[in-house]
Amino acid sequence: MRYAIPAADGVSIDGANEVILCRSNGEMYAFALSCPHQNTALKTMPKNAGFQCARHKSKYLPNGTFVSGRATRNMDRLQITRDGAQIVVDPDIAFESDVDPAKWAAALIKV
Ligand code: FES
Repeated sequence: MRYAIPAADGVSIDGANEVILCRSNGEMYAFALSCPHQNTALKTMPKNAGFQCARHKSKYLPNGTFVSGRATRNMDRLQITRDGAQIVVDPDIAFESDVDPAKWAAALIKV
């Protein structure tokens, strides 16, 4: 999938492809829409405060880091690369922070 790089911090959700895009503090991430606990769709918290799961209330920072709740890992990051003014995301390549922490940590672009 290709998306324009947003001009400002914020979140957009591509529901059809189950992708969350988040720009925060000079970095851009793509996440799987589903909560890593039991796959409920995550929701954006107001004021770029991160994400929350409606099912068991897990909370995550804008960079996907787990804060509290029943989940046992960070939000799953998708492979993301930059191509000019666009980002390219592969929704089929997800990195789990507990299985592959190095790839999870590297799955971002600087903006
Ligand atoms: S499904 Fe999200 S915390 Fe359980």
